[in-house]
Amino acid sequence: MSKLAGKVAVVTGASKGIGAAIAKSLAAQGASVVVNYASSKAGADDVVAAITAAGGKAVAVAGDVSKAADAKGIVDAAVETYGRLDILVNNSGVYGFSPIEEITEEHFHKHFNVNVLGLLLVTQAAVKHLGEGGSIVNVSSVVSRITPPGSAVYTATKGAVDGITGVLAKELGPRKIRVNSVNPGMVATEGTHSAGFIGSDLETWAVSTTPLGRIGQPDDIAEVVTFLASDEARWLTGESLIASGGAR
Ligand SMILES: NC(=O)c1ccc[n+]([C@@H]2O[C@H](COP(=O)([O-])OP(=O)(O)OC[C@H]3O[C@@H](n4cnc5c(N)ncnc54)[C@H](OP(=O)(O)O)[C@@H]3O)[C@@H](O)[C@H]2O)c1
Repeated sequence: MSKLAGKVAVVTGASKGIGAAIAKSLAAQGASVVVNYASSKAGADDVVAAITAAGGKAVAVAGDVSKAADAKGIVDAAVETYGRLDILVNNSGVYGFSPIEEITEEHFHKHFNVNVLGLLLVTQAAVKHLGEGGSIVNVSSVVSRITPPGSAVYTATKGAVDGITGVLAKELGPRKIRVNSVNPGMVATEGTHSAGFIGSDLETWAVSTTPLGRIGQPDDIAEVVTFLASDEARWLTGESLIASGGAR
């Protein structure tokens, strides 16, 4: 039976990478999905086409999560198109490494605007519509546990995401809305390819410190997110699930 039949989900940053896999996984379990993108309309349209071809329901919605009006527009699109909202996956994120000597205000604000402010703004818009049984899943990172050198700003954003997850689990628990995070290790995505991580010493190091001996694929993360979004995880809130093949 479909785990998410009749549910409506918003996935931010679903035009590629982990977000695209999450949107497809939620839809495969019966959810109607808002596929948000910032700049990659073609990528989002491809995700919608794949979901529709498999018999699911999805719509692509543009919006920069770090702008309050856009964040509201992304959430409102779910309610206007499908009549309700049950699941929010805060996946949009940017990552760049920079040693302490090279951190700039621009580097700081770019990461915090998308990874932290954006998550807060979309969540703020979503909580107006989420009811009992609602589920918020934040895509954090294992970096908040392993604190790799050169990642002070990015790791700080994901430490903030873990903190927000715990706080909102308490704030929204009385309304029976669950809030959890999934903290991936390195995953092969468009983002990690274009950042030059794949095929680099960083990937070699990641594999060597991963008990299961490889980096992740987007589906490895998507299925954990889908579990947390579903009622199978009804007794989990405030958790940070490390999905990293054992790297920590
Ligand atoms: N890949 C990894 O190794 C890894 C490991 C741990 C955690 N994570 C986390 O997983 C998430 C996804 O990573 P990924 O590797 O799949 O990234 P990716 O391939 O670079 O894709 C990033 C997605 O975020 C969207 N996005 C960026 N800025 C946005 C904004 N301002 N508003 C709305 N959407 C925005 C992009 O949209 P457009 O393409 O339309 O611009 C794209 O859909 C991030 O939160 C990342 O920190 C990734």
